[in-house]
Amino acid sequence: MNLVLLGPPGAGKGTQAKLLEDGHGLTKLSTGDMLRAAVAAGTELGRKAGEIMERGELVPDELVIKLIAERMDEGAAGQGFILDGFPRTIAQAEALDRLLAERNKRVDRVIVMEVDDEALVERITGRFACANCGEGYHDIYKPTKVPGVCDRCGGTQFVRRKDDNEEVVRSRLKAYHAQTEPLIDYYTRQGKVRTVDGMADIATVQKDIDKALDGVCA
Ligand code: AP5
Repeated sequence: MNLVLLGPPGAGKGTQAKLLEDGHGLTKLSTGDMLRAAVAAGTELGRKAGEIMERGELVPDELVIKLIAERMDEGAAGQGFILDGFPRTIAQAEALDRLLAERNKRVDRVIVMEVDDEALVERITGRFACANCGEGYHDIYKPTKVPGVCDRCGGTQFVRRKDDNEEVVRSRLKAYHAQTEPLIDYYTRQGKVRTVDGMADIATVQKDIDKALDGVCA
């Protein structure tokens, strides 16, 4: 099963991708995570992408398509992919169709996560992650069980993303509405879209996504 999670910044794509990875044995491919790793490593790609990401704009299609193409054959991808944050433009969606077709695969389902813009700003500005294992948290919606200690690895250092401030979030939302939202029509025409209410709590969204995978899941 190859699954695309489509939704605005802060909709919960990363949160649900992690749950799907754990629950269904799928391989998560997150272009945001890959780009942040490239920025941290100081690679040529990271140098090109870093400033664009800090402005909340989209990195050029050719760079992210190359990144996804390189990762598609790595790791335990046999059971399928969860694509988190890719595709984000029609050109990326067409490239994804080509890359999968070359491997006798296809996008099986597209989950559209709907969340109000104002809720997204609150979600993103409250987000943080463990500096050691990367587990994601939120000041209000998903705090650590013991204050200041990661539930997963016991780490005590946490980080916040550079692009998680209100001004940049507004610019990321603008990019989403202008360049990514048209993908809903693209995939609706292929009969692959299921919509979930991303305003519900994390566990409810997870259940709704599982229901939306009926008939696709092995
Ligand atoms: P990327 O890393 O993909 O960021 P994004 O799409 O803006 O999405 P986020 O990671 O911010 O949010 P999310 O939907 O994963 O939400 P999360 O689960 O963390 O991209 C970053 C940048 O990289 C882009 O701006 C662009 O520059 C570049 N880029 C990446 N891919 C690209 C591409 N394909 N093409 C071009 N450029 C690209 O949840 C958010 C918070 O809310 C968390 O704290 C979480 O705990 C909480 N939360 C989650 N679900 C719920 C819920 N149901 N209720 C309450 N709180 C919740």
